[in-house]
Amino acid sequence: MLRKLMMAGVCASAMVAGSAQADEVEVLHWWTSGGEAAALNVLKDDLESKGVTWQDMPVAGGGGTEAMTALRARVTAGNAPTAVQMLGFDILDWANEGALGNLNDVAAEEGWDDVVPVALQGFGKHDGNWISAPVNVHSTNWVWISKAALDAAGGKAPETWDELVAVLDAMQANGLTALAHGGQAWQDATIFDAVVLSLGTDFYKQSMIDLDLDAIGSDTMKEAFDRMATLRSYVDDNFSGRDWNLASAMVINGEAGMQMMGDWAKGEFLNAGQTPGEDFVCIRFPGTQGSVTFNSDQFAMFEVGDDRVEAQHLMASAIMSPTFQSAFNVVKGSVPARTDVPNDDFDDCGKKGMVDLAEANDAGTLFGSMAHGHAAPAGVKNALYDVVTAHFNGEYDSETAVEELVNAIDGAL
Ligand code: BGC
Repeated sequence: MLRKLMMAGVCASAMVAGSAQADEVEVLHWWTSGGEAAALNVLKDDLESKGVTWQDMPVAGGGGTEAMTALRARVTAGNAPTAVQMLGFDILDWANEGALGNLNDVAAEEGWDDVVPVALQGFGKHDGNWISAPVNVHSTNWVWISKAALDAAGGKAPETWDELVAVLDAMQANGLTALAHGGQAWQDATIFDAVVLSLGTDFYKQSMIDLDLDAIGSDTMKEAFDRMATLRSYVDDNFSGRDWNLASAMVINGEAGMQMMGDWAKGEFLNAGQTPGEDFVCIRFPGTQGSVTFNSDQFAMFEVGDDRVEAQHLMASAIMSPTFQSAFNVVKGSVPARTDVPNDDFDDCGKKGMVDLAEANDAGTLFGSMAHGHAAPAGVKNALYDVVTAHFNGEYDSETAVEELVNAIDGAL
């Protein structure tokens, strides 16, 4: 199939040389940090080696909120990009609007149903049709710790909430910003994913996946906000608006002790020449060992005309190739979106990520990330962002935050 597509791509390009390029993809994405750009180049180079020309449409902003606003504007103007990086429920929303193309032929030819984890198929397929190609699986319940800062704080990676607070105290006493963080709603919500999960897998499921208003309004939720307030006390005064990769840089350059962030942060450490185990340590957020809050970047293909379909199929096929999935995810910090990719090329954090994902999947403790669009549609996610951020910035105490969260999510349902 791939060879057929490649030949079709070559013929098409010969026929239309000089006119609109059938073998070109315009790709909207938000991979603009150093580590993300390095991973993006793996994809771009792979496609260019297959004769597909890459038109870049980067929209900066971690978590993709700004990219999704830009996408809406493009589609409204009748000028959708060819392929778009997207998360979870956003893909399904666009499919419901009838805006996406159909990848069934490529998927059937290449047996995607057999190798893509079912949790990802829930977002890559709509009404039984493949509508996007998953490039990775990230997860949000990670902590990235400076090895030097940890050694100076006693050397033992924290396994419980109390141990975490003790290590943060020790780092602060050593004169560091204990917790590197950027005050942006999606970053606050990324920590919130892990904090909610640390209070129990049932609690995460009930409150974030089932959106059970009793769980959302519970004392356990108040405890989650109390934990957020505790974490806030270890963040420096200049955190407002700081991009996530600049927070990673604070850990990389020794200014800060740790960052609580999805495994795209590992891409920054690697891009800076650091090695897991030597320069930094990766652990699951204390209390969430055995569980995973995941998100998966997928490339959804918009219906932009028959002359673009070949290139879209070539791109989907390239993304799903096992060798590409290994090469890309080794750089990106994520793990493959298929279950049959060998882990040989992955570092220790990547190997752990693959094992954790498989184990959580088997144990029923694999959940979609609320912060990254895999637990609930955008309306609910954005309602939660507002409350979590207002609380993190001291506008609400924990009790008020619980009430506001119930109201906000109830209003968004
Ligand atoms: C995406 C990652 C990206 C991160 C920060 C997440 O939503 O899944 O691929 O690196 O945002 O931009």
